[in-house]
Amino acid sequence: MTEEEKLKLIGGNGMETFAIPELGIPAIRMTDGPSGVRSWGPSTAYPAGIALAATWDPALAKREGQSLADDAKARGARILLGPGVNIYRAPMNGRNFEYFGEDPYLASRVAVGYIEGVQSHGVAATVKHFDANTSEFDRHNTNAVIDERTLHEIYLPAFEAAVKEGHVAAVMDSYNLVNGAHMTENAPMNLDILKHSWGFNGVLMSDWNATYDGVAAANAGLDLEMPRAKSMTPAAMTTALGKGTLSEAVLDDKVRRILTLVLRYGATDPGSAEANGHAYSEGAKKIAYRIAAEGTVLLKNDGGLLPLDSNRLHRIAVIGPNSWPPETGGGGSSYTTAFRSSDLYTSLCDVLGPKVEVDWSPGSKSETDIFSQTAFDEADGRAGLKQEMYNNASFTGLPQTSRIPHVNFWTPSFRIGGGTSLNPKTYRWTATFTAKTAGEYYVLVGAHGRDSYVLRFDGKIVLEHAQSEGTAPQYFRTHFSKGQHTVVEFDYVQRGQHLDAGLGIVAVDSIVLPEVKRLAEMSDAVIVSLGFSPSYESEAFDRPWELLPGQNELVNAVAGVNRKIIVVLNAGGGVDVAQWIDHVPAFLHAWYGGEEGGHALADLLTGRVSPSGKLPITLERQLEDDGSYKSYYPKPATTDVHFSEGIFVGYRHFDHAGVKPLYPFGFGLSYTDFAFSDLHVTKDGAQAVKVSFLVRNSGSRSGDEVAQVYVGEQDAPVPRPVRELKAFRRVHLEPGKSSRVSLELGRRAFSYWDTTTHDWKLDNATFQIEVGDSEEALPLHGTVQLRP
Ligand code: BGC
Repeated sequence: MTEEEKLKLIGGNGMETFAIPELGIPAIRMTDGPSGVRSWGPSTAYPAGIALAATWDPALAKREGQSLADDAKARGARILLGPGVNIYRAPMNGRNFEYFGEDPYLASRVAVGYIEGVQSHGVAATVKHFDANTSEFDRHNTNAVIDERTLHEIYLPAFEAAVKEGHVAAVMDSYNLVNGAHMTENAPMNLDILKHSWGFNGVLMSDWNATYDGVAAANAGLDLEMPRAKSMTPAAMTTALGKGTLSEAVLDDKVRRILTLVLRYGATDPGSAEANGHAYSEGAKKIAYRIAAEGTVLLKNDGGLLPLDSNRLHRIAVIGPNSWPPETGGGGSSYTTAFRSSDLYTSLCDVLGPKVEVDWSPGSKSETDIFSQTAFDEADGRAGLKQEMYNNASFTGLPQTSRIPHVNFWTPSFRIGGGTSLNPKTYRWTATFTAKTAGEYYVLVGAHGRDSYVLRFDGKIVLEHAQSEGTAPQYFRTHFSKGQHTVVEFDYVQRGQHLDAGLGIVAVDSIVLPEVKRLAEMSDAVIVSLGFSPSYESEAFDRPWELLPGQNELVNAVAGVNRKIIVVLNAGGGVDVAQWIDHVPAFLHAWYGGEEGGHALADLLTGRVSPSGKLPITLERQLEDDGSYKSYYPKPATTDVHFSEGIFVGYRHFDHAGVKPLYPFGFGLSYTDFAFSDLHVTKDGAQAVKVSFLVRNSGSRSGDEVAQVYVGEQDAPVPRPVRELKAFRRVHLEPGKSSRVSLELGRRAFSYWDTTTHDWKLDNATFQIEVGDSEEALPLHGTVQLRP
């Protein structure tokens, strides 16, 4: 190859690599990932990554991987941009839903299953985002400051397993910095750890536009800049080669890696007949269903309210913004448009049949309702707002002036920057808002990804949004007295192609729709389906911890008149449920269930399937209880995020600090019961330990249980978690039946990262082994004495 040809290969061509037809090198097409082949038209939308993790079923992850690979091939794609394996550190991370939860061992097992599946069907998997992409807040600039031990014990193992066990073909560097260097320029991470220590011999690509210095990146191990060579440009690389700041050998290594990937996975021309293969597949749908059914977690079921008995029901109500249409996934590059999605309302109607009347309501006012129903008056007393539009970004010159009835341009979707207009416009809306009644109000503002705004009440700034990569609607609560006039000024900078602004004010006690109380009163049971959507939980920005305006009010309005209330939540992790959790008898975490989420939920609620999902995260009662509470966001006036809770992430923190979670890691109810007994812990050779025990279905229905094995070191010389998950197994059992589960723990299960030797260390110590079905319910105990 000529140098020119080599340099062409190390930069992407959009969602492909470059072809070099003269040399017979084909382009290799990529697709997002991770939970559906999203880039080239509709496809099967599988449940979000966190739902897959909640199945605790690596074999099912493998089947999803195989199915995804088939979907990818049907679109002519041979590189899948998934799985995402970043560790869940706090609920606000906009991309938690794509990832596999808070525990490095669970995330590793799911990742390896997924990767093996994808690659066994002839498609390259890409594990992302290497590393510590645990927040979407200012993701291009955030510097994750993480100590060596924490990196190795918490933030690297899933990537390490992907490389060493899954033999993953590609790794994607994240946007953020780790310990002072952007990941694409991070030689200690990319070269010392990934390539040298773990022996990764595949392609290390950048995240999209995550390469900031081409020569530094080229020397720090980046092989492929995506989506185009903007920094590792042929010109910059040629100069560096000439000056000797980049060597030919380093370039050749990149080219060799890319060509190896092309040879292994890309031999098929994307334009071939295969590209119009079976993009729609019933088999894929079944896998999507199974993940949703096995991954939904039943958290509360007081008085055995669930399953609903269709023989004893006459009328139920399905209420809430997420009940129809369904929210199948979070927002951003992972959002897959399904051929057909199931929703909770229609699915329940189908399952319950004509004998049960099922009513539906969205439950509370939507953003669009709020924006279009807010009554503003101009200064002259006429209805509406004064609009001044400037054809520049600085509110200068003579504006075009008009009158509009509402600021209601917003449409629901996920709100990443997208195309930016070359001609930014600015709008100034001015009006008076008069409160009709005294009380609490929500003020809500919607905006497009890259737009910015300032909202003033009586001349004072009440809400501000600076230009950023993306945004969700912002809101706050305030009090108005009856008849209070407020002068509203809303300055909005439109950088996107379309105006996407929304502004509304709504009385808190009018946000729940009037029919809710009536429906709840006449129903035998009420299912309230709420949570987030791609507009609020997405790549490129973080999401709130609190539920959205109207959702707490909705639950409380229903619970006030009907005690048989079941709340179903869509979210990528924990949310603030404090306002109602103690007086709601049944609660399910459904994550984002993909296209089959509605069918799976209907079957779970009516008992056609017994719930078996287990939390891959700890759910906190209040945000202050989290280990990362004080350190999730950058330190003031810096971009540094200090991971100061260290190794005590998730349940490791709750145990260490003695804080009681709302629901512990590993927890999830079933419609049947399980019992654990007869634990044997035996040494198997010098450094392996065999753990064997019985699991019995002691209830009256068939169901699945996830047996979990935790290890803790007694009298450790360094601070260690009380216990850590080191093995698990999902078992299916008919009522009354038992099964012996045998699991093996290797040396690593007992070791910690030693910062003196920079290696794993096993102490001469006694270790306790605990077995059960959540981090808090571990009825079996044993010990084992090990020597290094
Ligand atoms: C995301 C990646 C994704 C890529 C390509 C980026 O914005 O961070 O996860 O694979 O876009 O769509």
